[in-house]
Amino acid sequence: MDDFTKIIVSENDIGRKLDQLSAAIREDYKGKDLLLVGVLKGAVMVMADLARRMPPTVQMDWMAISSYGSGTKSSGVVRILKDLDADLTGKHVLIVEDIIDSGLTLSWLLGNLRSRGAESVEIAALLRKPDAVQVDVPIKYLGFDIPNEFVVGYGLDYAEKYRTLPFVAILNPAVYGG
Ligand code: XMP
Ligand code: MG
Repeated sequence: MDDFTKIIVSENDIGRKLDQLSAAIREDYKGKDLLLVGVLKGAVMVMADLARRMPPTVQMDWMAISSYGSGTKSSGVVRILKDLDADLTGKHVLIVEDIIDSGLTLSWLLGNLRSRGAESVEIAALLRKPDAVQVDVPIKYLGFDIPNEFVVGYGLDYAEKYRTLPFVAILNPAVYGG
Protein backbone atom coordinates (compact mmCIF):
# COMPACT_ATOMS: atom_id res chain seq x y z
CA MET A 1 0.00 0.00 0.00
CA ASP A 2 1.24 3.49 -0.79
CA ASP A 3 0.91 5.98 2.06
CA PHE A 4 0.02 8.80 -0.33
CA THR A 5 -2.35 8.94 -3.26
CA LYS A 6 -0.84 12.05 -4.82
CA ILE A 7 1.84 14.70 -4.33
CA ILE A 8 0.00 18.00 -4.66
CA VAL A 9 2.81 20.45 -3.89
CA SER A 10 6.33 19.34 -4.80
CA GLU A 11 9.56 20.36 -3.11
CA ASN A 12 10.36 22.57 -6.13
CA ASP A 13 6.91 24.19 -6.03
CA ILE A 14 7.44 25.07 -2.36
CA GLY A 15 10.91 26.51 -2.96
CA ARG A 16 9.78 28.67 -5.87
CA LYS A 17 6.72 29.93 -3.98
CA LEU A 18 8.79 30.81 -0.90
CA ASP A 19 11.19 32.74 -3.16
CA GLN A 20 8.24 34.83 -4.41
CA LEU A 21 6.56 35.31 -1.03
CA SER A 22 9.81 36.20 0.73
CA ALA A 23 10.64 38.79 -1.94
CA ALA A 24 7.28 40.48 -1.34
CA ILE A 25 7.70 40.30 2.45
CA ARG A 26 11.23 41.74 2.33
CA GLU A 27 9.98 44.62 0.22
CA ASP A 28 6.92 45.30 2.41
CA TYR A 29 8.92 45.29 5.67
CA LYS A 30 11.98 47.14 4.41
CA GLY A 31 13.46 49.22 7.24
CA LYS A 32 11.12 47.65 9.83
CA ASP A 33 11.84 45.12 12.56
CA LEU A 34 9.91 41.99 11.71
CA LEU A 35 8.83 39.27 14.13
CA LEU A 36 7.72 35.98 12.59
CA VAL A 37 5.31 34.05 14.81
CA GLY A 38 4.96 30.33 14.11
CA VAL A 39 2.35 27.96 15.42
CA LEU A 40 3.81 24.68 16.63
CA LYS A 41 4.27 22.16 15.31
CA GLY A 42 2.93 22.29 11.79
CA ALA A 43 4.56 25.59 10.84
CA VAL A 44 8.11 24.51 11.71
CA MET A 45 9.19 23.70 8.14
CA VAL A 46 7.64 26.71 6.44
CA MET A 47 8.98 28.98 9.18
CA ALA A 48 12.52 27.61 8.78
CA ASP A 49 12.53 27.97 5.01
CA LEU A 50 10.83 31.38 4.98
CA ALA A 51 13.02 32.81 7.76
CA ARG A 52 16.19 31.79 5.91
CA ARG A 53 15.03 33.97 3.02
CA MET A 54 14.75 37.03 5.31
CA PRO A 55 17.43 39.51 6.40
CA PRO A 56 19.42 38.19 9.39
CA THR A 57 17.76 40.72 11.72
CA VAL A 58 14.42 38.90 11.45
CA GLN A 59 13.15 37.41 14.71
CA MET A 60 11.23 34.19 15.30
CA ASP A 61 8.89 33.29 18.13
CA TRP A 62 6.53 30.37 18.70
CA MET A 63 3.14 29.56 20.16
CA ALA A 64 1.59 26.22 20.86
CA ILE A 65 -2.18 26.19 20.93
CA SER A 66 -4.83 23.53 21.07
CA SER A 67 -8.27 24.01 19.68
CA TYR A 68 -11.11 22.25 21.41
CA GLY A 69 -13.37 20.40 19.07
CA SER A 70 -14.60 16.99 18.15
CA GLY A 71 -12.62 14.86 15.75
CA THR A 72 -10.69 16.61 13.03
CA LYS A 73 -12.64 19.87 12.82
CA SER A 74 -11.57 22.80 14.95
CA SER A 75 -14.19 24.66 16.97
CA GLY A 76 -12.57 28.06 17.23
CA VAL A 77 -12.23 27.66 21.01
CA VAL A 78 -8.52 27.85 21.58
CA ARG A 79 -6.25 27.27 24.57
CA ILE A 80 -2.68 28.53 24.73
CA LEU A 81 -0.26 25.72 25.65
CA LYS A 82 2.90 27.77 25.12
CA ASP A 83 2.76 31.52 24.80
CA LEU A 84 5.16 33.84 22.98
CA ASP A 85 8.36 34.90 24.73
CA ALA A 86 8.30 38.28 22.99
CA ASP A 87 6.38 41.36 24.04
CA LEU A 88 4.51 42.54 20.93
CA THR A 89 4.22 46.20 21.84
CA GLY A 90 5.14 48.28 18.79
CA LYS A 91 6.29 45.25 16.77
CA HIS A 92 5.50 44.26 13.19
CA VAL A 93 4.21 40.70 13.48
CA LEU A 94 3.80 38.18 10.67
CA ILE A 95 1.99 34.97 11.63
CA VAL A 96 3.44 32.04 9.69
CA GLU A 97 1.01 29.14 9.26
CA ASP A 98 1.16 25.80 7.51
CA ILE A 99 -2.49 25.43 6.55
CA ILE A 100 -5.82 27.18 6.93
CA ASP A 101 -8.83 24.93 6.90
CA SER A 102 -11.94 26.41 8.56
CA GLY A 103 -9.94 29.52 9.45
CA LEU A 104 -11.23 29.45 13.03
CA THR A 105 -7.83 28.92 14.66
CA LEU A 106 -6.24 31.74 12.70
CA SER A 107 -9.15 34.08 13.24
CA TRP A 108 -8.75 33.60 17.00
CA LEU A 109 -4.98 34.01 16.82
CA LEU A 110 -5.24 37.21 14.80
CA GLY A 111 -7.55 38.76 17.40
CA ASN A 112 -5.36 37.58 20.26
CA LEU A 113 -2.13 39.02 18.83
CA ARG A 114 -3.79 42.26 17.71
CA SER A 115 -4.95 42.86 21.30
CA ARG A 116 -1.33 42.87 22.53
CA GLY A 117 -0.33 46.24 21.13
CA ALA A 118 1.53 45.17 18.00
CA GLU A 119 2.12 47.86 15.39
CA SER A 120 0.83 45.48 12.71
CA VAL A 121 -0.25 41.83 12.49
CA GLU A 122 -0.44 40.05 9.13
CA ILE A 123 -0.66 36.43 8.00
CA ALA A 124 1.43 34.23 5.73
CA ALA A 125 0.12 30.72 5.05
CA LEU A 126 1.54 28.06 2.79
CA LEU A 127 -1.74 26.23 2.13
CA ARG A 128 -5.42 27.09 2.12
CA LYS A 129 -8.39 24.73 1.89
CA PRO A 130 -11.69 25.73 0.23
CA ASP A 131 -13.68 26.18 3.48
CA ALA A 132 -11.31 28.95 4.57
CA VAL A 133 -12.69 31.19 1.86
CA GLN A 134 -15.92 31.52 3.86
CA VAL A 135 -14.14 32.99 6.87
CA ASP A 136 -13.07 36.59 6.89
CA VAL A 137 -9.37 36.05 7.62
CA PRO A 138 -7.18 38.28 5.47
CA ILE A 139 -4.18 36.26 4.28
CA LYS A 140 -1.63 38.71 2.99
CA TYR A 141 0.85 36.12 1.72
CA LEU A 142 -0.63 32.85 0.44
CA GLY A 143 1.20 29.90 -1.08
CA PHE A 144 -1.31 27.49 -2.60
CA ASP A 145 -5.03 26.79 -2.68
CA ILE A 146 -5.47 23.04 -2.34
CA PRO A 147 -8.42 20.65 -2.60
CA ASN A 148 -10.43 19.65 0.45
CA GLU A 149 -8.40 16.52 1.22
CA PHE A 150 -6.38 15.54 4.27
CA VAL A 151 -2.77 16.32 3.45
CA VAL A 152 0.54 15.53 5.16
CA GLY A 153 4.17 16.50 4.77
CA TYR A 154 6.27 19.64 5.10
CA GLY A 155 5.26 20.01 8.76
CA LEU A 156 1.78 18.53 8.49
CA ASP A 157 1.18 15.25 10.26
CA TYR A 158 -1.11 12.33 10.64
CA ALA A 159 -0.68 10.96 14.19
CA GLU A 160 2.63 12.88 14.39
CA LYS A 161 4.01 11.08 11.33
CA TYR A 162 4.98 12.36 7.87
CA ARG A 163 6.00 15.86 9.06
CA THR A 164 9.49 15.46 7.62
CA LEU A 165 8.47 14.88 4.00
CA PRO A 166 9.85 17.64 1.74
CA PHE A 167 6.55 17.81 -0.21
CA VAL A 168 2.80 17.99 0.54
CA ALA A 169 0.79 14.89 -0.35
CA ILE A 170 -2.74 13.57 -0.02
CA LEU A 171 -2.76 10.85 2.60
CA ASN A 172 -4.13 7.51 1.43
CA PRO A 173 -7.42 7.06 3.34
CA ALA A 174 -6.39 3.45 3.92
CA VAL A 175 -3.75 4.76 6.36
CA TYR A 176 -6.46 5.98 8.72
CA GLY A 177 -8.81 3.15 7.97
CA GLY A 178 -10.91 5.03 5.42
P1 XMP B 1 -8.69 25.62 11.13
O1 XMP B 1 -9.01 26.31 12.42
O2 XMP B 1 -8.27 26.56 10.03
O3 XMP B 1 -7.50 24.63 11.50
O4 XMP B 1 -9.80 24.70 10.70
C1 XMP B 1 -6.27 24.64 10.90
C2 XMP B 1 -5.48 23.53 11.53
O5 XMP B 1 -6.08 22.27 11.25
C3 XMP B 1 -5.11 21.31 10.96
N1 XMP B 1 -5.34 20.78 9.60
C4 XMP B 1 -4.64 19.83 9.00
N2 XMP B 1 -3.55 19.13 9.40
N3 XMP B 1 -3.55 17.97 7.33
C5 XMP B 1 -3.02 18.21 8.56
O6 XMP B 1 -2.03 17.57 8.89
C6 XMP B 1 -4.63 18.62 6.87
O7 XMP B 1 -5.07 18.36 5.74
C7 XMP B 1 -5.19 19.60 7.74
N4 XMP B 1 -6.25 20.44 7.61
C8 XMP B 1 -6.32 21.14 8.77
C9 XMP B 1 -3.79 22.00 11.11
O8 XMP B 1 -3.30 21.76 12.40
C10 XMP B 1 -4.09 23.46 10.97
O9 XMP B 1 -3.20 24.29 11.70
MG1 MG C 1 -1.15 24.09 12.47
